Amino acid sequence: ASPVSRAGPPMGFNHYNHFGNTINEGIVREIVDAMVRNGMREAGYVYVNIDDSWQGERDANGNIRTNSQFPSGIAALADYVHKRGMKLGIYTTPTAKTCAGRTGSEGHEKQDVQAFANWGVDYIKLDWCGADYSPDGAAAIARKWKEAIAASGRPMVLSINAGGTLHVPPWASEIVNLWRTGDDICSSWYNQTRDPDPASSCRGKQPAGIRDYLFNNTAGNAPFVGPGHWADPDMLEVGNKGLSFEEAKTHFSMWAMWSAPLLAGNDPRQMTGSDDASRILLNTEVIAVDQDPLSVMATKVRDDGGLQIWRKPLAGGGQAVALVNTRDEATTMTLSWRDLGWTSVSAVRDLWRHADLAPGGTGYTGSVPAHGTVMLRVAGS
Ligand code: DGJ
Repeated sequence: ASPVSRAGPPMGFNHYNHFGNTINEGIVREIVDAMVRNGMREAGYVYVNIDDSWQGERDANGNIRTNSQFPSGIAALADYVHKRGMKLGIYTTPTAKTCAGRTGSEGHEKQDVQAFANWGVDYIKLDWCGADYSPDGAAAIARKWKEAIAASGRPMVLSINAGGTLHVPPWASEIVNLWRTGDDICSSWYNQTRDPDPASSCRGKQPAGIRDYLFNNTAGNAPFVGPGHWADPDMLEVGNKGLSFEEAKTHFSMWAMWSAPLLAGNDPRQMTGSDDASRILLNTEVIAVDQDPLSVMATKVRDDGGLQIWRKPLAGGGQAVALVNTRDEATTMTLSWRDLGWTSVSAVRDLWRHADLAPGGTGYTGSVPAHGTVMLRVAGS
């Protein structure tokens, strides 16, 4: 496998999708160990991000403390992570209470950012949870946090969640590293209105099944994405119950096509290195597309009744292509080299079959499974 370039958006793990508010430091340490053991760290997943529910009450001086789920404190955890060559992320909100009702940073912004810096934090996820969503108000909040980080003396990634579906903050790319593009993801192909499974994690949530992202969750962000500033369609659901192997491959392929952060949202302790989640999350050829130094966000070339072709220009002049079949039955799809602006090509690589294909002819034709994706890397001639 070719070495992964890490010039792109952050890669790592976040506990929220799988563990919700019941996370604790013991599980996090086990996950770190698992990421070292199962090949994730090696593949580039270096951020270990704690989401909501680590926070306890403030002390008499207003210093934020951990709760009983993290009795050793965040500095100890950061140390554990750094010793293994990885990085630590933390979560807070601009409001007094987080979405889970824990202590937020309102009125303590500088103090908290300084505490995070002192603890050795490398990444801040700033959730909104009722803070000002108006473009001007949200930008002012983001700017305040960016300045607090600069004043802390420690570089930290700033990731914000100030937007709902279709809300594209053009200002965000100038202030923060990552901005969420929609509501919470859930581990299902269809959203709550179409999901036939009553046990689905998508029921009762805002609509953001994987299928929805292919139709409406990304539009408008592409012009604002580039090195150091990326649109964040949310953390991954690969490896969680609810997605078939093909659906999870589509999910992962498109996050890579969009130059999205790759934050695993499953339980890495269950990954063996050869199970389905490993085959997807550890596909270094797809990861390399995500991490391409140009950080272009793929755009849709066309959609023929749910048969979609997306393309992403890569450093060196090549392009990544995704042929996505959102239909419910396997379908033959055709990509013409002309879709990529070429009359002929010199090399074609299938990134899921890990095979070089003959570059002759006028394009690529192949069967794509229902809800599945064929992902190619193509070099022009
Ligand atoms: C809402 C966010 O969208 C989620 O990713 C997660 O951070 C929760 N809040 C935590 O309460």
